[in-house]
Amino acid sequence: MVGVLVITAVWAMLPAYVPNNIAVVSGGSRPVDGGRTWAGRRILGDGKTWRGTIVGIAGGFLLALGLNSINPTVSTVVGVQLPIFSLGAAIGLATGAMAGDIGASFLKRRSGRERGASFPGLDQLDFVIGALCLAALVASDWFATVFTLDIIAVVVVLTPLFHVATNVLAYSVGLKAEPW
Ligand code: CTP
Ligand code: MG
Repeated sequence: MVGVLVITAVWAMLPAYVPNNIAVVSGGSRPVDGGRTWAGRRILGDGKTWRGTIVGIAGGFLLALGLNSINPTVSTVVGVQLPIFSLGAAIGLATGAMAGDIGASFLKRRSGRERGASFPGLDQLDFVIGALCLAALVASDWFATVFTLDIIAVVVVLTPLFHVATNVLAYSVGLKAEPW
């Protein structure tokens, strides 16, 4: 029972999980805020670039389409009918995840944290909040069917654990400057 919830939650969140990781490996180039400041601090900082943002969103979107194509096979193998991503869901999850991450950088800069500083709680859930809110907005029927309250609970508990684990891994192989 719990296993079904976890498998469904992870599957439904994969298009929201990957954009940040893809941004880490594809990042660089011009910062989204163009170097501009607000009240003496960068609006977003050099950690949010156009390339990372665009490649990250595209990666999450394409992953959703890829998951749709292997859905029948995986559903049969695991014995759970996994959700199919509508186009709106794919766009909402991937774009919302990046928007949540960017929103968190905005809040970090406003609270005086330099690029790369940790903000426990926000760092682990910013992209979940962004992805769920945007998916609910642009694909409301899909969202209501897939993200039932028990699934949302599993996502909120498991995501910080996944996030910490992947970031420690990315740090240890030299992809990220900090382990958060
Ligand atoms: N990245 C990017 N564009 C994004 C998000 C991330 O280019 N929209 C890349 C940047 O190279 C960034 C790295 O991925 O440095 C790690 O992402 P993250 O931890 O979100 O950024 P930080 O550098 O830690 O900056 P911040 O303090 O604003 O989170
Ligand atoms: Mg960071």
